[in-house]
Amino acid sequence: MAEQALIEICELYKVFGKYPASVMSQVHEGAGKDELLAETGHTLGLRDINLKINRGEIFVIMGLSGSGKSTLIRHFNRLIDPTEGKILVDGVDVMELNKKELEQFRRHKMSMVFQRFGLLPHKTVLENVSYGLAVQGVKKPVRHQKATEWLETVGLKGYEQQYPSQLSGGQQQRVGLARALCTDAEILLMDEAFSALDPLIRSEMQDQLIELQDKLHKTIVFITHDLDEALRLGDKIAILKDGELVQQGKPEEILLNPATEYVEAFVKDVNRARALTVETVMNPPISRITANTIGEALEQMKKLPEDYGYYVNEDGYQGILLQETLEQAAEDNAEAALNETLIEELEAVSPDAILESVIPETLDTEYHLPVVDEEGSLQGELSRSNLAEVLGDSSRQAA
Ligand SMILES: Nc1ncnc2c1ncn2[C@@H]1O[C@H](COP(=O)(O)OP(=O)(O)OP(=O)(O)O)[C@@H](O)[C@H]1O
Ligand SMILES: [Mg+2]
Repeated sequence: MAEQALIEICELYKVFGKYPASVMSQVHEGAGKDELLAETGHTLGLRDINLKINRGEIFVIMGLSGSGKSTLIRHFNRLIDPTEGKILVDGVDVMELNKKELEQFRRHKMSMVFQRFGLLPHKTVLENVSYGLAVQGVKKPVRHQKATEWLETVGLKGYEQQYPSQLSGGQQQRVGLARALCTDAEILLMDEAFSALDPLIRSEMQDQLIELQDKLHKTIVFITHDLDEALRLGDKIAILKDGELVQQGKPEEILLNPATEYVEAFVKDVNRARALTVETVMNPPISRITANTIGEALEQMKKLPEDYGYYVNEDGYQGILLQETLEQAAEDNAEAALNETLIEELEAVSPDAILESVIPETLDTEYHLPVVDEEGSLQGELSRSNLAEVLGDSSRQAA
């Protein structure tokens, strides 16, 4: 698509140390992180990062501790200046912003949710959430009104006058989220925002974020070192290793075609049945029958690989037609219109369904399951062998 990326990073390098510029030639010649540190005392934070983050997507950045995740997103709002490279946000080169513009940019364009909540301890929950608006100069009644609404949205109605220390970790993180949302910034940067939470609360927060995102369509950059979290939230995932981007793509691409051994090590223990949706493994919908008469339906059926097909009319998927049934009916009158009595019920699955949830149905029937979207349109077919292929072999190499 020709649409311009909201965040675009081009050939970004970051070296930490006294004289970064003096070691760049070594970096360009390919010196590794360890080598550079040993020889020059400089730390290679990022090397040649190129990526595009589109409007409205949740872009996950993943990697082990020290791989450069925080360094990377801190470039987005220029908490860190690059050693080399370009950072464009909505077409604007953030390095070109003057002090005042940068201030505006940080206040209005992006907000950040931190791992350790980062709430102001001596301010109430309401004041914490409305803080960003106060900085923007929004009047008290307005900002308190907005903050109250966001607190309600994240499930904290009634806690407005409490102090952060009176809240659980999960609740504090909700305050952090409400605070980030309250400024109405287009971009949310979330650096390990859920990592401090216990698994159950964490999973609730993930659900909440997904639910919010369905309504708000923000652009969210989400850092995690947890692959399950990355797969659950990410529209795209980028994987960093020692400051380099080793792979980026859709979750299923990463899962099914890990680019390197490092990525493979990340994905090998993933429960694919839980991580993949029907859509990512189904086959195209070839067994489609759209005929008006029994005779025409039989003609179409004969071209299909199986002795059944999915009957689809203007209202979408209707059910399954069996060759045997059609042949019997054709003996009476092949010119007759296809009628409902010939169509058998076969429940469809949704393209968005998690594979795990459809395993029983898939194994329970001798047919491929029709995959039908919300509008009733036939999108694909799911067979047992589709399942076996992705679930059976977890050590598959990149193709
Ligand atoms: N201010 C700094 N000065 C020197 N080196 C730094 C600085 N900030 C980061 N680094 C180095 O850059 C590398 C990447 O660090 P970064 O904090 O981005 O990692 P991370 O992927 O966010 O790790 P974690 O998962 O532990 O948060 C590390 O080797 C780190 O030592
Ligand atoms: Mg970090």
